[in-house]
Amino acid sequence: MASAKLRWLYMALVVLGALCLYFSMHDLALFRGGPLIFKKDSGRFLQLPAVDCRRDPPFLVLLVTSSHEQLSARTAIRKTWGRERVVHGKRTETFFLLGTTPSEAAARAVAQEGRRHGDIIQKDFLDVYLNLTLKTMMGIEWVHHFCPQAAFVMKTDSDMFVNVSYLVELLLRKNRTARFVTGFLKMHDLPIRHKHSKWFVSRYEYPWDKYPPFCSGTAYVFSGDVASQVYNVSESIPFLKLEDVFVGLCLAKLRIGLEELHSEQTFFPGGLSFSICRFRRIVACHHVQPQKMLIYWKALEDSEGEACPAE
Ligand SMILES: *[C@@H]1O[C@H](CO)[C@@H](O)[C@H](O)[C@H]1NC(C)=O
Ligand SMILES: *[C@@H]1O[C@H](CO)[C@@H](O)[C@H](O)[C@H]1NC(C)=O
Ligand SMILES: *[C@@H]1O[C@H](CO)[C@@H](O)[C@H](O)[C@H]1NC(C)=O
Ligand SMILES: *[C@@H]1O[C@H](CO)[C@@H](O)[C@H](O)[C@H]1NC(C)=O
Repeated sequence: MASAKLRWLYMALVVLGALCLYFSMHDLALFRGGPLIFKKDSGRFLQLPAVDCRRDPPFLVLLVTSSHEQLSARTAIRKTWGRERVVHGKRTETFFLLGTTPSEAAARAVAQEGRRHGDIIQKDFLDVYLNLTLKTMMGIEWVHHFCPQAAFVMKTDSDMFVNVSYLVELLLRKNRTARFVTGFLKMHDLPIRHKHSKWFVSRYEYPWDKYPPFCSGTAYVFSGDVASQVYNVSESIPFLKLEDVFVGLCLAKLRIGLEELHSEQTFFPGGLSFSICRFRRIVACHHVQPQKMLIYWKALEDSEGEACPAE
């Protein structure tokens, strides 16, 4: 009797031990990284923009994530907020971030577009949503290697309206030079665990229950020094396909906090209906189609000098 009980106990312990070993090895593999580690020097640049930051340091570099098929968005930006070169006496430069496409015709068209405008930064990773972090990190690497003289950098998307003039004005007013990050702050976001969401993240990709503070990827701004620091730590951060959270993880490791640019909301990741007076008081607004971009811009330019009610 007693020996049979002991045998059962012994077997249960062996099974339990094996399970513990199995799960601990799984977890170790998770943290050792394997495929989930970002390699900061991987890939090579296919296109570099025509700009010499050493000779002509920009105050603000705007990096706009874009893809091959978004030519009309790039054209609208080049005709509107991307056209700004000197604002409040400060230099601004706008560049588009692209990966590669399997379509040879599209690749040729973008190479030609880049030669013509000199405003494309491109590396040889496949341009898909899941590679967005590679795209952002390419922009950050570019600043680190080719334009560390930039006082500020904005990362934004090609369906965004940006009031560059107001952004420069607020940055000058804020008077910060280092370790500064701003945008639409997300201080307490949680990973989305429903499989069908665009932002689904599995426990394998991100085992923790909370995200660090981060800025909505639609538009965020940081002082130039932050680019080199983020680039520097990026390899020690578990890779995540959500570029804004990934940058947030880098900032947490660097102990760089997020700050508001203004006491009023100026970044609108959810979009906003247009009015001239409202758009004079925002920095960035999401969901603006190319056609609308041109219309809004013209309305703002034409009304220059006209007063708004509460000014
Ligand atoms: C991201 O780009 C790399 C390099 O081109 C490629 O190997 C990988 O398949 C891409 N990721 C996805 C999810 O397509
Ligand atoms: C900006 O900050 C510096 C110190 O960091 C200070 O000396 C300077 O007066 C400030 N300028 C403005 C316009 O507030
Ligand atoms: C990069 O990290 C190393 C050590 O981790 C540090 O010594 C160096 O100063 C960092 N460089 C920048 C630009 O932050
Ligand atoms: C941008 O903001 C400035 C300052 O508030 C305003 O005067 C201007 O009309 C706006 N322009 C555009 C194009 O958004």
